[in-house]
Amino acid sequence: MSAQTPVLPCLEHSSITITPSLSPSHPLRHPAFTIPNPLLAHLEIASQHLHSSRTVAFATETVYGLGASALDPDAIKKIYLIKNRPADNPLIIHVSSLDMLQRLLPSSDVYEISKIQLALITAFWPGPLTLLFPSPNPSQPPALQTNAIRMPAHLLALALIHHSNLPLSAPSANFSGRPSPTQARHVYNDLNGAEGLGCILDGGDCGVGVESTVVNALGWKAGGGGSVDILRPGGLGVEEIARVVQEVDGRGDVTEIQMHGKPWRRNVEASSSRATHLSRTEPNLAPATPGLKYRHYSPRIPVYLLQPSNTFPRSSEIPSKTDSTPRAVLRKISADVQRNGRNPTLGLLHYEDSPLSRRVLDVSDLSIESISLGPTAESAAQRLFSGMLSLEGSAKYPANGSSSMGVDAILMEGCSDEGLGLAVMERIDKAVGGGGFGEGANAGLAQGVDSERRYWVDVS
Ligand code: TXA
Ligand code: MG
Repeated sequence: MSAQTPVLPCLEHSSITITPSLSPSHPLRHPAFTIPNPLLAHLEIASQHLHSSRTVAFATETVYGLGASALDPDAIKKIYLIKNRPADNPLIIHVSSLDMLQRLLPSSDVYEISKIQLALITAFWPGPLTLLFPSPNPSQPPALQTNAIRMPAHLLALALIHHSNLPLSAPSANFSGRPSPTQARHVYNDLNGAEGLGCILDGGDCGVGVESTVVNALGWKAGGGGSVDILRPGGLGVEEIARVVQEVDGRGDVTEIQMHGKPWRRNVEASSSRATHLSRTEPNLAPATPGLKYRHYSPRIPVYLLQPSNTFPRSSEIPSKTDSTPRAVLRKISADVQRNGRNPTLGLLHYEDSPLSRRVLDVSDLSIESISLGPTAESAAQRLFSGMLSLEGSAKYPANGSSSMGVDAILMEGCSDEGLGLAVMERIDKAVGGGGFGEGANAGLAQGVDSERRYWVDVS
């Protein structure tokens, strides 16, 4: 660790204006940017870091990114070092125009952007959609033959890429395995002082709050019979992608929409998400995208999923005499996380005024800190990571771990898989699977647990 990392305030990013290109080919071909001072001065500092093989953390509409020039292997190495990221987990490249995208693709005589890629770009860029493109100079397999590329929607991110005139490789700006940062201070808490981190551009709260949806549309075929594979659910709902695919297919042509290489089916009834829920916990899915095999999003304390009965049907695997009342479930979790004879404080992330939150907050003999995720999957996505980080409390885990701030465990209210609910539930599942102490804690099917640290709760 070196000196403190400067945080440059760029909250006036809405004063940046972008004028679509007049080029008849596409409005995103080479848009024009107007960047007023003092933003321009901050972007100039960041740009100098990027041109000197250093990294810069910056806001995007999804989560904060830790960026480096995609054309500079030395700078990219620093991203992996700073994050302690596994070397085989590739990075997303961020562009600010289709001209810049074109420069990352094989030459136009051997590769042309397909009709489906163009339709997805037109519908969703700039925005939380990452697409795979063939790499212009891939190494021998098993090295990846593709690059994952997106155009972020945050004006500050676009202006940084444009001003530096560099495509930016950028993973989320957190220490590997930690919840993704949605505020500049989250980045600062994880990465302050890291060698090779030039500055943090504070663009305020991220609006989407979960990472981009990663899509492999290279398997699409004109005339039908191909596939579009969702490699990572994220800030763009699968339903939205399916709609555009259907439009491009037209009548008669059928493209299979897949999730991790398996057929995806629209979850028609929001409340009967049992089937999709089970598929989420299916063991040993072969990772279609390298990042899938890594644990993610783990606070330093245990995370529990609460599946309220108004959204999740009771599983037949739960023994009939199991007490699934909020009081009973909370007692079990309390016993699970209790340490040193002290009664634990539980943190609850819940939907606004949900039956679960009303029932849980009624259990008056327990100490509970609660944070609302708002009323919808969109608001939940936006608040999810910051909610986990607030409950965890950054002061709780100094070396001796004895501070009174922060909670002892986080309880997350589950939701249906519709829209952004899928991305939210995927992040919760990973947070439940990792982190905290007491791996293999005393939960199990016999106690009425869906699986370890997952509880169905009767809120009727
Ligand atoms: O919203 C986002 O995508 C954020 C912001 C900063 O843009 N970035 C982000 O990056 O989430 P990261 O590194 O945390 O996640 C990148 C994901 C990983 O799951 C990685 O395995 C996958 O994208 N990925 C990258 N290149 C790939 C490729 N060529 N093929 C398949 N998956 C790829
Ligand atoms: Mg990440």
